[in-house]
Amino acid sequence: MIRSLRSVHLGAVLACGLLASPVYAAATVNATPRYDAAQRLFRLDAGGVTYAMGVNADGMLQTLYWGARLPASDTLGPALPAPERSSFDPAGALTPQEYAGWGGAMTATPALKVRLDDGNRDVVLRYDSYRVENDGLAIVLKDAQAGVAVTLRYTADDATGIVGRSAHIKNTGKQALTIDSAAAATWNLPRANDYSLRYLTGTWAGEWHLQTRPVTPGATVLESRRGSTGDENNPWFAIGRGDAWNEDHGDVWFGALAWSGSWSIRVDEDILGQVRVVGGFNPFDFAYRLKPGEALDTPVFYAGYTRAGIGDASRLMHAFERDRVLPGGASAALRPVLYNSWEATEFKVDEPGQEKLAEKAAALGVERFVVDDGWFGARDNDRAGLGDWVVNRRKFPNGLKPLIDKVHGLGMSFGLWVEPEMINADSDLYRAHADWVLNFPGRQRSEGRHQLVLNLAREDVKAHVLQVLDRLLTENDIQFLKWDYNRNWSEPGWPEMSPGEQQKVYVAYVRNLYDILRQLRAKHPKVEIESCSGGGARVDLGIMALTDQVWPSDNTDPSDRLSIQDGFSYAYAPATMMAWVTGSPNWVNNRVSSLDFRFLSAMQGGLGIGANLLEWTPAEAATAKTYVAEYKTIRATVQRGALYRLLSPQGRAPWSATMSVAQDGHQAVLFAFQRQGEESRPYPTLALRGLDPQARYRWRAIHGKVAPGTPDVASGAYWMQRGIDLVMKGDLQAAGIVFEREGGRRATR
Ligand code: GLA
Repeated sequence: MIRSLRSVHLGAVLACGLLASPVYAAATVNATPRYDAAQRLFRLDAGGVTYAMGVNADGMLQTLYWGARLPASDTLGPALPAPERSSFDPAGALTPQEYAGWGGAMTATPALKVRLDDGNRDVVLRYDSYRVENDGLAIVLKDAQAGVAVTLRYTADDATGIVGRSAHIKNTGKQALTIDSAAAATWNLPRANDYSLRYLTGTWAGEWHLQTRPVTPGATVLESRRGSTGDENNPWFAIGRGDAWNEDHGDVWFGALAWSGSWSIRVDEDILGQVRVVGGFNPFDFAYRLKPGEALDTPVFYAGYTRAGIGDASRLMHAFERDRVLPGGASAALRPVLYNSWEATEFKVDEPGQEKLAEKAAALGVERFVVDDGWFGARDNDRAGLGDWVVNRRKFPNGLKPLIDKVHGLGMSFGLWVEPEMINADSDLYRAHADWVLNFPGRQRSEGRHQLVLNLAREDVKAHVLQVLDRLLTENDIQFLKWDYNRNWSEPGWPEMSPGEQQKVYVAYVRNLYDILRQLRAKHPKVEIESCSGGGARVDLGIMALTDQVWPSDNTDPSDRLSIQDGFSYAYAPATMMAWVTGSPNWVNNRVSSLDFRFLSAMQGGLGIGANLLEWTPAEAATAKTYVAEYKTIRATVQRGALYRLLSPQGRAPWSATMSVAQDGHQAVLFAFQRQGEESRPYPTLALRGLDPQARYRWRAIHGKVAPGTPDVASGAYWMQRGIDLVMKGDLQAAGIVFEREGGRRATR
C-alpha cells in the first residue's frame, strides 16, 4: 500500500533549508511524496509527471520510472537490480542507480567519487533511510564503513512536474576525505536507442546557438571549466525520443542546473541503450576536502518531462522560472522599459551628458535610466578603475545625487552598472590588496580585458565587496544594478589555504557570490539586479534566483538577436530576457535596419533602448515613443505569457516568428520577421497556437501588413487552423500583430 507523506509545512524553501542551493522561491507548492513501505518504493506525482524510485534487494536506490503521470493505482515496482551480464558488465553499472558512488565494480559514470586520507577510494552507497523534510523527500544513502553519508533531496513542482534534486554529502567517518567529483543528480531515461540531444553553445556576442546531435553509445559532455557558467555551453539540456520530436510533438526530458560556477552535464549512453544524464560540479580540477563531520551540498539540478515536444518543455521551464525561481515568483514586477547609454557613450559618461539623455529617454516613455560603465574611479577606458567603486568627481562633480534626482524627477527609476568581482591592476584597490585576486604565487596573473578576478571565496574579500555595494546603495537612491562579470578565471589559486583545501575555491566563490546578492537584496529589497556577463555568459537557475533579469548578449543587432533570443527561449523565460533597440548600422556587423525592425525584435523580451538618443530625428523619436507605448500594452503577455515558436531563425533561416499568449488568455501577440526576401516568395502562413478555439479574437497591427481578405475578427480555431498571411517584401521586414479576445478573459491554463 502506498502511503502519502504529508508535507510538514509549505514555507519558503530558503527558510526550510531543504534546498541547499541558493535557489529560493515564493511559497512552495510541491507535490507530496508517497512511500510504499512493503516494496520500498518512492513516488512523486506532480503536474503531468510521475517520478518513481525503489530500493532493490542489494540496497541500491534505482530509478523505476520517469515520464507521463500514471494513475496512483499503478504499482511501479519492484526494484530489481540488473543481473550481471558478463564479467565485464557488472550489476551496479547496469542498474539505473539514482546516485552511485564510485566503488565496488562500478564502471558507469558515478555521481560521487571520494578519496579517503588512508588511500581508500571505494565508496558503495546503499539505502539507509528516508524522511520528509518540509515539502520534499530526503533519502539517505550510506557507506558506513567508508564514513560517507549522502542525503538525496527531491522536490516536485505541482504545476510543472519539474523535479529538483541535490545531494548533501557528509563525512561521517573518523578521517578526512576529499571529494573528487560530486554530481547533483543522475537522471536515468527509459532504455532506448533513438534519443537525440539539444543543447546550447555560444561565444561572446554569439551566444545561444541551438545544437542537436544523436545520443549514441558514448558520452557527450557539456561543461564550463571557466569558474562561472560561461557561454560556450549553457547548463541546460533536452533529450527527445524518436525521429519525429519537434516543437509540438514527442517525448522530451529536459533539465537545467542551478549553479553559476564550473559545471558539467554528461550524457552517457551504454550499448544496451541505458541513457544517464549526470550533472553537477565540474569534476575537472575539482577537489573538496571534508574533515570528519563536515559536509558539501551540491547545487540543485532541475529536470522535467513532457509528451508535447520541445515547445512545451520550454513553456514548462518558463513557468517554473517565473513562478518558482525568480525573486518575487508569480508576483514579481514586470520589467520596466529601460534606457542604457553604453553603446551611445561608452566610458564617456558625465553629469550633463547623462542628463541630456535622461530627458530624451523620459520623453519616449522610458521607465528606468541606467548609467553604465565609466562613472567610478579612474575609469576612462577598460584599463583602469575596476575595484574603486567611488564616484569619479571629474565626471560627476557633486556625486551621483544631482543626476539621480533629475532621473527621478523625470519619472524614471535609476540604475547603475557595477562589476564587483573584478579589479584592474591599475586601481587603488589592487595597489592596496594585490593578494586579493585568484593567483598562484610566483606565477603570471593572466589578464582578460585588463582585469583580474577577485577571490570572492576569501571572507575578507566578500566582506569588502558587500560593504562597498551596501554603502553605494545606502548613500544613493538606486533602484537597479546591472551586475557585470567580464572574464573567465585563470590561475585559480587560493594561496592562503593549504594545498589540499585550495580547490574549494570552485564552491566557496559561488556560494559567497550568492550570499552577497542575498544579503544585498535583504537589506535593499527594492533594488532589482540584472545578471550580465559580457552578455549572456552567466545565465543559469542559480543566479536567476537572485537576480530579476539577465542580459543575453552584447550583440544587439536585431537580426542576429532573433537567433540569440530564440536559443535563449529554449531554456529561459522571456520574463528575464532584456533586449535593446540600438543604433543603425549596428556596431557588431554594420547591418543597417529600420527602427521598426529593431523595435519589434527587442519587444520579444524586456524592452530597452541603447541608442544615442541625441542623434535621433524628431520623426524617429516619435516612432520610438509609439512603440514604447504599444509595448506597455503587451508586455505582460510577452514577459509572462506562454511562448510559442512558430518559425525558427536558427541556422540563419530567412524567417522567424513567435507568439505569446497572456496567462489569462485575453491577448496574444505575434511577431514575425523576414531577414531576406528571396524571389518574391510569400511569407509562410502562420498557424497560431495556444488560443481558445471557441473564443473570437480581433487583430490589430502594431506594424506590418496582413494579406487582403483577412477577417477583422475570427475564432481561435480559425487563427490556429487557417492561420494568418502576412505581406512582407524585401530584406529585414517585420510585423507585430496583437490579437484581443472578445468578451472577457478565461481562466489561466
Ligand atoms: C560588458 C557588458 C556591456 C557593457 C560593458 C561595459 O561588455 O556586457 O553591456 O556594460 O561591459 O564595460
